[in-house]
Amino acid sequence: MMKTSLLRQAAATRVALAVRPAQAAFRASSAALALSRTSRSATAVYRPASSLLRFYSSESAASQTDAGAPSGLITRFADLDQLGVHKHIVRSLTQGLGYETMTEVQSMTINAALAGKDVVAQAKTGTGKTLAFLVPIVQRIIATDPALAMPRGGGRASADDIRAIIVSPTRELAEQIGAEAKKLCQGTGVVVQTAVGGTQKNMMLRKTRIEGCHLMIATPGRLHDLLSDRSTGIDAPNLAALVLDEADRMLDVGFKAELESILQFLPHRDDVPRQTLLYSATLPKNVISIARQFINPTNFEFVQTVRGDEVPTHEKVPQFIVPCRGFENMGPTLLELVRREVEKSLSDTERLPFKAIVFLPTTAAVQSYSYIFRRLKFQDRSMPRIYDIHSKLQQGSRTRSAEEFRLAKSAILFSSDVSARGMDFPNVTHVIQLHLPQDRDIYIHRIGRTGRAGKQGQAYLLASDVEIPGARDRLPGLPIQRCTDLESASIDVTKADTLPDVFTDIKEAASKAPLDVLRDTYTSLLGNAIRDIDRQDVVTEINNLAKYTWGMEEPPAVSPKFVSQFGRALRGLRVADYNESFGRGGQGGESGFGNRGGGRGGFGGRDGNRGGFGDRGGRGGFGGRGPRGPPRDGFDAMERLASDGGRGGRGRGRPPPPSF
Ligand code: CDP
Ligand code: MG
Repeated sequence: MMKTSLLRQAAATRVALAVRPAQAAFRASSAALALSRTSRSATAVYRPASSLLRFYSSESAASQTDAGAPSGLITRFADLDQLGVHKHIVRSLTQGLGYETMTEVQSMTINAALAGKDVVAQAKTGTGKTLAFLVPIVQRIIATDPALAMPRGGGRASADDIRAIIVSPTRELAEQIGAEAKKLCQGTGVVVQTAVGGTQKNMMLRKTRIEGCHLMIATPGRLHDLLSDRSTGIDAPNLAALVLDEADRMLDVGFKAELESILQFLPHRDDVPRQTLLYSATLPKNVISIARQFINPTNFEFVQTVRGDEVPTHEKVPQFIVPCRGFENMGPTLLELVRREVEKSLSDTERLPFKAIVFLPTTAAVQSYSYIFRRLKFQDRSMPRIYDIHSKLQQGSRTRSAEEFRLAKSAILFSSDVSARGMDFPNVTHVIQLHLPQDRDIYIHRIGRTGRAGKQGQAYLLASDVEIPGARDRLPGLPIQRCTDLESASIDVTKADTLPDVFTDIKEAASKAPLDVLRDTYTSLLGNAIRDIDRQDVVTEINNLAKYTWGMEEPPAVSPKFVSQFGRALRGLRVADYNESFGRGGQGGESGFGNRGGGRGGFGGRDGNRGGFGDRGGRGGFGGRGPRGPPRDGFDAMERLASDGGRGGRGRGRPPPPSF
């Protein structure tokens, strides 16, 4: 019975396609291109007013000029029953979860998906994509087996008949989607399971075998693992729906092979009609290539909700760069900033409580900074709660940190990039980055953690003077202002007679930190976390960090093998004997702390030989890639329209230079 209804749906889809005017897709997309060109040259920044593109429907050319949600779309959750959504789902949405009006991406995705289409959606973070896919997916599961609309309905669920899968790049995100899905499915018989790397696989398997599973939320690695191993008993022979969330992120973190290979374990679309929804903040070539493999080319809708009249988050959030004299100034400057902002939030009732995410370049740096700040909290009761998330934490602790931070009113989360993308932590007021992010995209995604849902937020980047030229190079076209009112940033610790409290407080806390963590921080920062900077400068900086912030008499020793990667002698590096026992101020090694290499080339001192803005960032906008023929299909057109969506986004040529 379920099969017949799916087949009927498939037949209906084919009929719809058969009547599609052959040229409609091309006309629609070239009209959109023209529209978007004009608007680009007019505003040079944003996308066309409404860029919902329906490549495969003849009314699309008209509808795309409308601003806002095209008329006729359902935009209130309470009205979803009109589109056939089961009343139990509608009730969860409106009563359990308390949602009223849909965001744009929700309305567009939900309407298109409930009409049976595949969807490729490009929308920025914080726009409600989770519900956008959960609603149609859960409804589709119920459509495959209407008994599932009832609690405990549909008989016993099994692990080898999964109806829908959501693939998500990180464990945290998968857990977050899982939690939302469970709330949505309350009051129905749909069983939700999450399968993420890191957690005990056997426990997850046992649970899934006992409880069964209709909707699985998984990271690509774990999903591949489960589907490729037949002994797991996990299978999806009747898979009706698939969601790829944060597709760009999944590819960024190297899941391309897993994603592609997952396809071979799923039933063929010709045998079991499958709906696929793909979400991505950006649509670079590799994402389009994944879309080509997963999305039904003859029946999909491309939804872009970056609107012409809407300022993207990364332009809305006030952003500051704090040039720090050296690495040894960064911890104290962070502490000064935290104290100042906590104070501001306490003295001004208009402000939200201080809730910050501090991004650091390495796991070890997250460990050491969070240790130091936790220590500081012992003495300083006004310091918010401290959490950390990084790759060395057990999955359970990561999930707990994320959950507690999410619920916390005022807190600081120290994080490496594991949690950066897509996580929804409400009411984050500050995103603070120490050292340069690898690239502009990562910077933008990090600051997207604040200013969500129309809330206030601000972003700080603490970078040492030697990193400033790199910051100018990597972060063009962003409204970053220079912040000079944190006194700890510019103090010369070697000269100052008295140092502000933050220096002594940090040093005191650091003196208690586990040596192995500090040592790992030292080597990890020396490795390749701090890029584009002469290694000798990095050694000098990092030695100052060890000496003045951590209070070490001499820098931690590094192994000869580690040193050999630099291919040259570096002043100030202490090389360990193989059997040296490490210790604070331990002995041996060659040089101790070198003194500050003269001529550190103050702020901006190296600009000249950096050549300003290179090829980074300036992706050329439309037409920048040379002449191309008319788009061959919807994906081609999509690629053109999305060619820099959310990335450079600055029209033709290079983004303007940063003003700091
Ligand atoms: O995935 P994306 O970054 O687009 O956003 P999300 O993680 O789904 O988070 C959206 C946030 O907006 C969540 O906190 C939702 O509770 C909230 N929200 C929503 O999703 N839909 C609405 N109509 C209103 C609020
Ligand atoms: Mg999301």
